[in-house]
Amino acid sequence: MRISPNSNSQFELPKLGYGYDALEAAIDAPTMEIHYTKHHQGYVDKLNAALEGQTSLVGRPLDDILGDLESVPEEIRSSVRNNGGGHYNHSLFWQIMGPGGGGEPVGQLAGAITQAFGSFDSFRRQFTAAALTRFGSGWAWLSVNNGKLVVSSTPNQDNPLMEGAFPILGLDVWEHAYYLRYQNKRPEYVEQWWSVVNWEYVNKLFTTNE
Ligand SMILES: [Fe+2]
Repeated sequence: MRISPNSNSQFELPKLGYGYDALEAAIDAPTMEIHYTKHHQGYVDKLNAALEGQTSLVGRPLDDILGDLESVPEEIRSSVRNNGGGHYNHSLFWQIMGPGGGGEPVGQLAGAITQAFGSFDSFRRQFTAAALTRFGSGWAWLSVNNGKLVVSSTPNQDNPLMEGAFPILGLDVWEHAYYLRYQNKRPEYVEQWWSVVNWEYVNKLFTTNE
């Protein structure tokens, strides 16, 4: 997903395409509101602060930067990794969910998942396992790596861009994503989350690679 700074070279919190209560089947409205207005906004603000005065990085899309962290000056590299990763990951997360989601993959993605994992159920089990075995805070991913669909997980706000892959589906398993409704029960959160996945959007990322 392409994320470019605005004309003032600032990254911005993207518009949420639905209400805080739109994903109630899986995620309660208070969690959505805090997650979007506090956590995500915090990553955006800290990313902009880290990039201030960094002329070599001005105007560069975030996905380019995260795919080339070696080019980021060392004194801000971990801040860009954590806060830039946080901005990218949450921007993707809001898009790959939506009201009326769930069900099974659509379009070319449906066949590609069956080909790569044997079946949708098999893919779902692998992805769920990645989400549940990620110790502490992090993300589970479906990404395209050299043309191949791959399930993985990352710690903190890292993401597959940092390993040269292109993420098309991500699940936030930080406690801030689920604690109000599910407390420590991450498996229940993950189970319910499938019911809000926006497969149309995931398929769009898969087919356009942008
Ligand atoms: Fe989060």
